[in-house]
Amino acid sequence: MGLESKKFEWTLPVPNVQELSNQQLETVPARFVRDDVCGVINTVPSDDCLPVPLIDMSKLANPEFQELELQKLHSACKDWGIFQLINHGMSDEILRNTSKEVLEFFQLPLTEKNRWKQKPGRFEGYGQILVASEEAKLDWNDMLLLTTHPIQNRELEFWPENPPKLREYLDKYSEDIKQVAINLTRFFAMGLAIEGQELCEAFQEGGFRVKMNYYPPCPQPEKVLGLKQHTDSSMFNLLLDCSITPGLQVLKDGHWYFVKPIDGAIVANLGLFAEMVSNGIYKAPLHRAVVNNSQTRISIVTACLPNSSFNVGPAKELTKAGTPPLYKTVTVDEFFSMFLQSKKLGVPVIDTLKISC
Ligand code: OGA
Ligand code: NI
Repeated sequence: MGLESKKFEWTLPVPNVQELSNQQLETVPARFVRDDVCGVINTVPSDDCLPVPLIDMSKLANPEFQELELQKLHSACKDWGIFQLINHGMSDEILRNTSKEVLEFFQLPLTEKNRWKQKPGRFEGYGQILVASEEAKLDWNDMLLLTTHPIQNRELEFWPENPPKLREYLDKYSEDIKQVAINLTRFFAMGLAIEGQELCEAFQEGGFRVKMNYYPPCPQPEKVLGLKQHTDSSMFNLLLDCSITPGLQVLKDGHWYFVKPIDGAIVANLGLFAEMVSNGIYKAPLHRAVVNNSQTRISIVTACLPNSSFNVGPAKELTKAGTPPLYKTVTVDEFFSMFLQSKKLGVPVIDTLKISC
């Protein structure tokens, strides 16, 4: 079932970042200061000349435009590993109202939000990302994390009942985003020229997890990260940026590029499973979130995974003709056991999955 069913013995309590932000401090506590990023944010080049690719899903589905749009998708996956999806089929009404409900949730007093607080050693609920040591640097971010699919895995004790319509909108949002994920998987397979049916079926019963990120203003934004650089452990993550302030950045050719929010678009970024299935033709990009000193930013991020017994590994069509598989094949469940193991050891999980030639 992925991470949700696993227990963590090594999580430590973390301060609530929204409360810290409300204290109007002049400097941030030392645990948030990242010496490694000082100044880096200022070196981001002007991204006007290199915007993250834009993919039109209605063209992918239209025989007249499909071939060209598939080529664009393939290049976007190869060159960036991240792109913005438009005409994805989700209604503006659902996107707008889900964002509104999520914002209202975060605006509730802490005691109220804490009714749905993470439980010790558990993964879901309202709180912060799990940390393993007192020395670990902290992200300038609070979150609400919920499993939405398979439906029988929902832990409703963590689904807020306030604001009253949040549950209903999350339910609708997650059904629709699941459909986007299934459609995208089909085109992903077409772009790679691999058999897509089994993969799409694996998403029908797939694991979907929604993480609502809350990045409050920070007195020293250049010293912290909203979310440290990482790759996603999923096939792909689908992100709805609920703010107009850019915060998401992706690493490409040694530079960090902002992914500028486009109203109504969904940002799709490839995770490690996509890298493995494509036998390294596509790479899961490193990305991170930065913050600023005046605006709150909220994102709703859905991690999309095939069902837990699905074998993730290089597609057979891509390992014929003298090209050896570059990655092991493991089930989704095995992947997450390896993920936890490698996190404890401090090594990237993908390194334990690479086959050295
Ligand atoms: C994530 C993520 C970026 C953002 O939650 O995995 O990359 O901008 N979020 O919130
Ligand atoms: Ni991510």
